Amino acid sequence: MSLNIDCIDRSRFKGDKDTLALFMWEGEKIDTQGWFDSSKERVLEDITKRENFKAKAGDLLVYYPEKGEPSARVILVGLGKKKDAKTSALRDAAARALKATLKQSETLWIDLPKWSERATLKELAQAATEGALLGQYRYLKHKSDEESKKESALKRVNLVVEKPEETTATREGIKKGEIFAEATKLVRDLVNEPPSQKRPADLAKIAKSIGSARISVRVYTKKELEKMGMNAILGVSSGSSHEPVFVHMVYKPKGTPKKHLGIVGKGITFDSGGLNIKTGNNMTTMKNDMSGGATVLAVLKACEKLELPHEIHGFVPFTENMPGGDAYKPGDVVRAYNGKTIEILNTDAEGRVVLADALSFASKKNLDSIVDLATLTGAVVVALGDHITGLMGNNEKLIEEIKTAAKTTGEKVWQMPLAEEYKERIRGGVGDLANISTRGGSQPGTIIAGLFLQEFVDGKPWAHLDIAGTAWTDVETPTCPPGGTGAMVRTLLEYLLQQ
Ligand code: BES
Ligand code: MN
Ligand code: ZN
Repeated sequence: MSLNIDCIDRSRFKGDKDTLALFMWEGEKIDTQGWFDSSKERVLEDITKRENFKAKAGDLLVYYPEKGEPSARVILVGLGKKKDAKTSALRDAAARALKATLKQSETLWIDLPKWSERATLKELAQAATEGALLGQYRYLKHKSDEESKKESALKRVNLVVEKPEETTATREGIKKGEIFAEATKLVRDLVNEPPSQKRPADLAKIAKSIGSARISVRVYTKKELEKMGMNAILGVSSGSSHEPVFVHMVYKPKGTPKKHLGIVGKGITFDSGGLNIKTGNNMTTMKNDMSGGATVLAVLKACEKLELPHEIHGFVPFTENMPGGDAYKPGDVVRAYNGKTIEILNTDAEGRVVLADALSFASKKNLDSIVDLATLTGAVVVALGDHITGLMGNNEKLIEEIKTAAKTTGEKVWQMPLAEEYKERIRGGVGDLANISTRGGSQPGTIIAGLFLQEFVDGKPWAHLDIAGTAWTDVETPTCPPGGTGAMVRTLLEYLLQQ
C-alpha cells in the first residue's frame, strides 16, 4: 500500500486523533517548538529523564497527552547531536517515527525541524519523505502468513511547517524524496526476488515494462550477441541453461539534450562462481549480484519522473554464472566486444568479464561520461565494509562529482587508486588480459578489478562503483530491512540531477 505524503502549515493542523512526531537534539533542553507550553515542556523533560530518553540517534519516547493537547499520541524522536548533524539523521529518525506509528494511527504528523544553517527546507522534506517511505519498506511477496502481510493502519504522513509560504519548497522536497525512495524500493524488490524467478529474460521483461514515449528499451538476444561479438557475456552465460540478454535503454529529454550520460550495471542474476564454485556461506546472498543492473533500470525509470534534461543511456548484461556442462573454464579465452581477448583464470571473477562487453559497447556511444555499478569484489567488503562503496575511475572531475552527490545524499563512497603499479598483474599469458591477478598471494582485489574494467572504456571519462558491500545488508537498519538495500540509487540520481 502506498503512503500518501503531504505538507501542511501549522495553522491547518488537525491531528488531535493521530500521532505527532517531534524531533529532539541530544544534550539540549526539551523544546517542542511551541507545540506545548513551557510548563508542559518541563513535565515532558521529567518524563524523558525518567525514561532515560537522551535524544540520541535511535532514542524514541511515546507520550500520551491529556485532552486539549495537540494530538492523541506524541513521539519524541532523537536526532543525536546538533553539531555536524546531516540530513541522514532526519531520514533515519523519520523512519523510526514511522515504524512506531504503523499500527497505531492512520496519520502521522511530522513536525519538520529547522536546520537553517546546513540544510534547506526542501532537503529536509526530502530526507523525511525518504525516511518514511524507506522505513516502511518490506519484501512480503513470498510470505504466506497473513498476519505478516496485514496492511498497516498508517495511510498518510503530513509534514508540518510553520508558515503557509513554506509549503511550496517542502512539496518540492517531498516529490524528489518520493522519486528517490521509489527507485530505491524497486531495486530492493528486484534484488530480493529469488534467483530462479528473475532469469535474464524476466529482467528483460521488466526493463521493457519501464519503456515509454521517452524511454526506449532494446533487448539483445543471445543470437544477436553472437553476431555482435559480445563473447565475454556469452562465455559467462555458457554454463547456464538460461540465455543471456543485453539491455540498452535510452531516456530522451524534451528538447535538445544538455549532456549524454551512460550508466552500466552488473546483472549477474545468480553467481554460483561457475566451475570455480563458491563454497558455503559465500553463495548464500548471490542473488544480489544483479544489484548494479537493477539500479540502472530503476534510475532510467526515475529520469523520466525527474524530467532530467540529459540523454541517459543504461546498459545491463543479464546472465547467470553457473557451472553447467557447457560452462566456460579456467584457461578459456574469450574475445570481448572491443576486440581484446580475456584469459579466464577464475570463473568466479565473472562480473568484470560481462562488464568488459558492456563497457566496450557503451564507450562507442559518444557519451560525456560513463558510470558503472557492480557487486564486483569480496575485497571491497574487507576494505570498506557494508556502509561504504568503493569508487574508482580515470577522470578526477567525474569522481569529484560523484563524491559531491554522495555527500548530498549521505551515502558513503571512498576512492581507491587505479594504481599503475598493479597493471602488469592482469596481463594475460595466452590472452591479452587475465581476469584475475596472475601474481600469487594476497592481492588488492578491488583495484585489480578496477584496472581490468579500465581496459574497456577506451579512455572515455569513466567511474566505477564497487557496491559488493553496500548492496546488501544482513542486519536491519532504520531505513532498510535485511536484504537488498538499493545502495547508490539516490546518489546516482543526485549525480545526474547535478549535471
Ligand atoms: N559477485 C562476486 C563479488 C561479491 C562478493 C559480491 C561478496 C557481493 C559480496 C564476484 O563475482 C566474485 O565472485 N568476485 C571474486 C573475484 C575473485 C575470484 C578474484 C571475489 O571477490 O572473491
Ligand atoms: Mn563471482
Ligand atoms: Zn559476481
